[in-house]
Amino acid sequence: MKATTLEIDDILERYPKQPQHLISLLQDVQAEYKYISPEHLALICDHVGVPLTQAWAVATFYKSFSLEPRGEHEIKVCLGTTCHLKGGGRLVEACERDLAVARGHTTEDLRFTLDTVKCVGACALAPVVMIDEDYLGAASIPSLQKRLEKL
Ligand code: FES
Repeated sequence: MKATTLEIDDILERYPKQPQHLISLLQDVQAEYKYISPEHLALICDHVGVPLTQAWAVATFYKSFSLEPRGEHEIKVCLGTTCHLKGGGRLVEACERDLAVARGHTTEDLRFTLDTVKCVGACALAPVVMIDEDYLGAASIPSLQKRLEKL
């Protein structure tokens, strides 16, 4: 985690007040805060002169943007065909149960965000779970629990 967080005004000042900078601002705010809060979305709209409904539509269209706070650690369970056939579904259910969080959401303590993805290009290692930038291949419920305990 970064030691300091930029103020939203510092991010807004990077871009001229023009609608074409909407996506760049959303990307920068997402990168800095790991999500785009309603307050930040409104400030971005004011800055670039875009209606809130338009910015909201953009922010919800692209999966790289989150309108909910993200956890310190991101868990992505692959449910592509190969991983699904090798038990990916059971891994997601175990995460939901153990972390008390539904897929697509973040734990109350903001430690973990649980998501599912469709094929991360490592089918030979199926079933695969990504934990932050690391791949856990041939994942089982015990190996996944062990990895999460270390975080
Ligand atoms: S289906 Fe999971 S890595 Fe390809």
